Amino acid sequence: MHGFFVEQGINIRIEMKLVHTISDLQAELSALKAQNKKVGLVPTMGALHAGHASLVKRCVEENDVAVVSVFVNPTQFNDKNDLIKYPRTLDADCELLESVGASFVFAPSVEEMYPEPDTRVFSFSPLDTVMEGKFRPGHFNGVAQIVSKLFDAVRPDRAYFGEKDFQQLAIIRKMVKQLHYNLEIVGCPIVREEDGLALSSRNARLSTVEREIALNISKTLYKSRTFAVDHSVEETLQFVESEIGKVQGLQLEYFEIVDGNTLQSIANWDDTTYAVGCITVFCGEVRLIDNIKYKE
Ligand code: PAF
Repeated sequence: MHGFFVEQGINIRIEMKLVHTISDLQAELSALKAQNKKVGLVPTMGALHAGHASLVKRCVEENDVAVVSVFVNPTQFNDKNDLIKYPRTLDADCELLESVGASFVFAPSVEEMYPEPDTRVFSFSPLDTVMEGKFRPGHFNGVAQIVSKLFDAVRPDRAYFGEKDFQQLAIIRKMVKQLHYNLEIVGCPIVREEDGLALSSRNARLSTVEREIALNISKTLYKSRTFAVDHSVEETLQFVESEIGKVQGLQLEYFEIVDGNTLQSIANWDDTTYAVGCITVFCGEVRLIDNIKYKE
C-alpha cells in the first residue's frame, strides 16, 4: 500500500501503513514530527465514500503526513441498533485510502480507545442543545470524547471534517477553543451525487426505491433556496415541511434555519449574515441529514 509525501517539492512514494494501537501510531509519527513534518488527521467511522475521499485528498495536499482514523465510536450512538447496523468495511476503506495517498490508517479496537469507560461530560451550550443535540441526547458528548482522544493520540497540525455534519463541525471548533488544542480545524464542503443526494455512509442502507425517495431531501432544500429569496424565514420553514410532508416514505424529524455560528434559530433573514437550513429526515429506517446555506 502506498501514500505520498512531499520532500522539498518532490512527491516521494511511501508505504501506507495500517496501525491498530496508539503507541504504534505515535512511534511512527514522532519520527516524522522530529523532521518537522506537518501532520493532518481525518477522523472517520469507515464505510468510506467520495465525501471522505475529498477530505483525505485535501489533507494529503495540505500536509506532509495524512492520518485517517477508522473507528466506529460506540459512545456517540444513542441508538444501539444503529451502532450494530453501522457498516464496517476496513479492507475496502484501506483500498480507497491508498488510492488517495493517505500515509497512515489508524484502526483501533474499542478496548484501545476506551481502556476504561470515559466519564467525561462536555458542555458546548448552546450549540449542543439544539437539533441533533435535542434528538440524539449524548451524541455530541460521545463525539467530543472520541475526537479529543484522537487529537491527543495524533497531535495533528490540522484536522478535517465535512460540512454535512454541520453541527458537529461547529461543536468541534468550540471544543478546540475550550480545550486549547493547538491545531487548525478545516471544514470541507458537502459532496453530492450528480443528482444532488448528499453522500453518506448511511446511503448504503437505502434500497433502490428509498434512494429515489431520499433524493427529495436535497431537491427540496435547493427549491427552498429559490423560494427564500422572496419569502420570510417562517414561510421557508413551512415550505420545506410541506414539501417533505408530501413525499410518501419520508418522515421529517426537524428542519431549522439557524445562524451558522451560534446554531440558534433565526426569525428573520436580517438576524444573521450566515443562515443555514439544517434538516434530518427518516427515509424508511435510515436517518439522513443534510443542510443548505441561504446566506454566507
Ligand atoms: O463524523 C464522523 O464520522 C464521526 O462523528 C467522527 C467525527 C469520526 C467521530 O467518531
